[in-house]
Amino acid sequence: MKLSRRGFLRLGMLGVASVALPIGRMIGPMNELAKAGAVTSPPVEPFQVPLPIPPVLKPVRTDASTDYYEMVQREATAEILPGYRTTIWGYEGIFPGPTIEARSGRQVVVRQRNELPVPVVTHLHGGVTPPESDGYPTDLILPASSSHDANHGTGHHHGGAITYETRDYVYPNQQRAAMLWYHDHRMDFTGPQVYRGLAGLYIIRDEIEDALPLPRDEREVPLVITDRTFTADGDLYYPSLDPTLQGQPGVVSSFANGVFGDTILVNGAPWPVLDVGTARYRLRLLNASNARPYLLALDPPPPNGPAFIQIGSDGGLLETPIPHDEILISPAERFDVIVDFGQYPVGTSVRLVNREGVGPTADVMRFDVARREEEYSEIPDRLAPEEPLPDPSEAVEVRRFQFIAGFFGWPSTVNFRIFDPNRIAARPRLDTTEIWELHADPEHPIHLHLVHFRVLSRNGGPPGPWDAGWKDTVFMRGGSAQIIARFSGYRGKYVFHCHNLEHEDMMMMENFEVV
Ligand code: C2O
Ligand code: CU
Repeated sequence: MKLSRRGFLRLGMLGVASVALPIGRMIGPMNELAKAGAVTSPPVEPFQVPLPIPPVLKPVRTDASTDYYEMVQREATAEILPGYRTTIWGYEGIFPGPTIEARSGRQVVVRQRNELPVPVVTHLHGGVTPPESDGYPTDLILPASSSHDANHGTGHHHGGAITYETRDYVYPNQQRAAMLWYHDHRMDFTGPQVYRGLAGLYIIRDEIEDALPLPRDEREVPLVITDRTFTADGDLYYPSLDPTLQGQPGVVSSFANGVFGDTILVNGAPWPVLDVGTARYRLRLLNASNARPYLLALDPPPPNGPAFIQIGSDGGLLETPIPHDEILISPAERFDVIVDFGQYPVGTSVRLVNREGVGPTADVMRFDVARREEEYSEIPDRLAPEEPLPDPSEAVEVRRFQFIAGFFGWPSTVNFRIFDPNRIAARPRLDTTEIWELHADPEHPIHLHLVHFRVLSRNGGPPGPWDAGWKDTVFMRGGSAQIIARFSGYRGKYVFHCHNLEHEDMMMMENFEVV
């Protein structure tokens, strides 16, 4: 069956899409098929490449209120697999992009310059950002080369706010310390553009965090986890219908439920290794994979006590630390955890493993406990001051959204509808609280722009083990979750969507407008 996604756009408008929905239940085996893939990467000896740390970008200038940055999005080559040259698309030509370090309450302006052959859009994931800087999927930065060709690329007909070559994104950072990330969000093409490398970290810090005796400097380590498949030549393999990303969007139908790679990269390096001392380390985990969730654990586990002490979530520090033996992290989620390598004798190799992986995807990276080191850090019982939880009795609206995966070229939908930039699915009033009941079939990481929320319940019961703190992405494997959010910050139009990027590109996205 070979129906184009655009064909479905038309069918969807006739209401035909809803006929296909019950088969969403059947896609489990399709995920396995997609994971197997059509291409196998060149083999890599794991735990050979030292863990790279993305460089921190320097502002081009600063003034009393603002730090100004400039980034060029361009093609570059990188040696990702030892001995191979890989063409990537990167912010500043690197993957992951450079890290931006921001201060809570201090504004950042990022001038993005597009030197790629396609339109781009940059979204700051987790940012409380005014709508014009949020990276709405049709607010395209067209390539420099296209400024005299109005018909270049796709997406013009969606009617977003188009700019040529550059765009200034304004990030007020009126939010607590947290690890956010920026990534491409181009309508219909987010999956392939992020896969080629358009993602980077954005870390907000504040006084509350500064005052805590947590591991810092080289003992604070960001880990951007992705999976990729490479061709025999070492190029990135992504099953686009149109590999130029200029014409028809979408992936070949066997990948419609996600592009899963067979090579795990951390900070852009395959199964890297990091030498650590006998001390606590703060690992700031981001799953920047297109579709793959990871069930992370340590092997061997520490002799006395849990593998991970979680101190933060998507939205920053927790009130109190939470011990975990394993952590399920879905695309776009962040976990801020402490690992105590002081529990291992010098000479121990500790693998960070993925308990849901098979073969090469069962390993993520390795820590080699290489030296004795002084401990200076502590994990305080109280991390961040108690943030008032939104009171469910104050919720002025309860909304219900059902996310159902597509199948064999059928689109993925929210409440049986495919994304339409001109349709608003919810109009929360500014500074009001709402409860959203999300239903997932079969599994989706659901992300809301602008707001941070709390998970109130799952399937009518208590929240799950990884639901603590402020979240902007919640992972569901079937069933439902109730989340509660206060729609504060800015009025305007924002999206919410599945963060399985193939689902997102296959239209599992909706608008809300804060009014
Ligand atoms: Cu991480 Cu709408 O995105
Ligand atoms: Cu999904």
